[in-house]
Amino acid sequence: KVNAIITGVGGYVPDYVLNNEELSRMVDTSDEWIQTRVGIKERRILTEEGLGTSYMARKAAKQLLQKTGVDPDTIDALIVTTTTPDYKFPSTASIVLGKLGLKNAFAFDLSAACCGFLYTMDMAASMIQSGRYKKIIVIGADKMSSVVDYTDRQTCVLFGDGAGAVLMEATEEEGVGVQSSFFRTDGKGLPFLHLKAGGSVCPPSHFTVDHRLHYLYQEGRTVFRYAVTNMSDDVMEVMRQNNLTPGDVDWVIPHQANLRIEEAVAKRAEIDPSKVLINIERYGNTSSATIPLAMWDFEDRFKKGDKLILTAFGAGFVHGAAYYKW
Ligand code: ACO
Repeated sequence: KVNAIITGVGGYVPDYVLNNEELSRMVDTSDEWIQTRVGIKERRILTEEGLGTSYMARKAAKQLLQKTGVDPDTIDALIVTTTTPDYKFPSTASIVLGKLGLKNAFAFDLSAACCGFLYTMDMAASMIQSGRYKKIIVIGADKMSSVVDYTDRQTCVLFGDGAGAVLMEATEEEGVGVQSSFFRTDGKGLPFLHLKAGGSVCPPSHFTVDHRLHYLYQEGRTVFRYAVTNMSDDVMEVMRQNNLTPGDVDWVIPHQANLRIEEAVAKRAEIDPSKVLINIERYGNTSSATIPLAMWDFEDRFKKGDKLILTAFGAGFVHGAAYYKW
């Protein structure tokens, strides 16, 4: 049996640091409110004009190629998961592939909001386990600042920009890599979290611009409730399926949306909070990038054989958890 393992992690965050103090000069908020309600101190913003998600995705992938030393000509596929693609078409993945100069690979985007990295990692693992592909680059990247309304205090404090990339490879070693996953999509999420205009239902027009319909809309309290319930249920389900007790789990990497969500998930799933890896204070919610960026930040802590549970929740609603053995 072929297994799919992560053989390297790359990451990129833009240089510009938008801290709570600067935000409180833009909207009616405060460092104290943001830190106590959300747990964020600062986030990175891609400020250079003309640069989009593919720029950060390419930076993360470039670092990944350098770190692993893999021959780019041996990469079979490159998948970008993003909510903020460079363009409606072509795919951001095709742009990244072109910039990296991958000659023998195909590329596509996968859209699953904040759950995108988990779904994509699982898809890539299935492609590898099928025996048809051996090396796949998976990138989670988002320029959330491109869809955030910096006059809306309810959302602008939450998000940041960044990208994380992993190389997934085939191995015949047993009991390593992606072990199992439990994913669900609950189509009832649309009214609570979406971007109103710019798609085929409501194409861009002067009206949509005048009415500020190109920004992320969220009913925070509802999303909060669903996120806590679904992520903790999914973590418990994946532990049940693999006969794991909370004590067996070495690390949990949750999607970083709100520190209070992460804490509530750990409590409900009875996971020791010291095992939950958090970096939201530095980057905010980078959507598709939060999980690979946390892997990038905390890679040094993982030892061979460590049992990781990854979990995420996002617009749709999409949610799930995966069990990965390092
Ligand atoms: N600064 C100061 N006050 C604020 C701010 C702010 N930035 N934002 C809201 N408030 C106020 C509200 O106006 C409200 O005031 P009121 O009581 O006078 O009406 C008060 O604070 C409380 O507002 P709530 O919305 O109840 O605050 P809550 O504690 O729920 O926190 C938050 C809001 C942070 C948005 C939270 O609900 C949350 O994290 N939701 C989930 C976000 C999430 O997980 N998103 C999913 C992924 S995103 C994706 O998929 C792209």
